[in-house]
Amino acid sequence: MSGAARAGARVIGRVIHALDEVGSTQAEVARLAAEGAPEGVVVTARHQRAGRGRLGRAWWDQPGQSLLLSVLLRPPVASTRVPQLSLVGGLAVIDAVAAETGLTPGMRWPNDVMVGERKVCGVLAEATTRADGGVDRVILGIGLNVNQESFPPDVAGRASSLRLLTGRVHDRERLLATLLEALDARYREFLAESEDLRAAWRRHSVTLGAHVRAADGREGVAVDLDETGALLVRTEDGALLRVVSGEIAGAPAA
Ligand code: BTN
Repeated sequence: MSGAARAGARVIGRVIHALDEVGSTQAEVARLAAEGAPEGVVVTARHQRAGRGRLGRAWWDQPGQSLLLSVLLRPPVASTRVPQLSLVGGLAVIDAVAAETGLTPGMRWPNDVMVGERKVCGVLAEATTRADGGVDRVILGIGLNVNQESFPPDVAGRASSLRLLTGRVHDRERLLATLLEALDARYREFLAESEDLRAAWRRHSVTLGAHVRAADGREGVAVDLDETGALLVRTEDGALLRVVSGEIAGAPAA
C-alpha cells in the first residue's frame, strides 16, 4: 500500500452501529444516509432476516456466524467508477482474511471472494446517482462467512466459511476491526485513483485468463480490467470487449 494512501484522517469505521437483528444492513444504512449521516458510517448485524445479494438474490446467514456489514460512502467521482467499489470491498476482505487466517483468497470478478472453488464472501455496491452523472451515495455491503459449520443445500456445494477452511473458530470482532482498516486504506487508493488497486486485482484475480460469458451471451478470455472496473475480454475472433456485467461461464455465483 502506498504512503499516500495511508495519509490523512480515517474515513471508514469511525462510527459503527452494531445491531442484533435487521432486515438488511443495506436498508439500515440507506435510512441513516437519508437522515444525513456522514461518509464512513458502518452498520453491522448479527443476523439479517432479508439479506440481499447481487442480481436480486437473497443472502443467507446463520445468526452470529457471519460478518454482515454495510458502509456509507459519498465519493466525489463519476458514477462510471462505482463498479470499482466492489473491487475495493473485495480486496479489503482479501487483505483482512489473509492477515487474520493465513488463507490466500482470490477475487472472482465482479465481486466474489473465493478460496479455491468456494465462495466465502460477496460484495454489493448500491449507488444513487445524480442527474449530472455524479454519485450521491454508495452503500457498500459485505457478507463474509466466518464460523458456519454447514450451509443450506442450495449453496452448500459452492460456499464455504473461514472456519471450515481453517478448522478454527475466528474472532468476528477482531476480523471486523482488521477489515475496516483495510477498507479504509483501499478506499483511499480508490479516491486517489491509485494504480495499486488494479495491480492488486491482477495479483489476486482468479478471473484473469479464465473463459467468461457476458450477460448478452458474448464469450472470450478475460485479459484485464479497465480503469472503471469493467472486465476486458478477448473474443475468439480477436475483438476486445468491455464487459460491465456478466457471469463466469460454468461458475455460478453462490
Ligand atoms: C453477493 O454476492 O451477491 C453480494 C452479497 C452481499 C451481502 C451483504 S451482507 C451485508 C449487506 N446487507 C445485505 O443485505 N447485503 C449485503
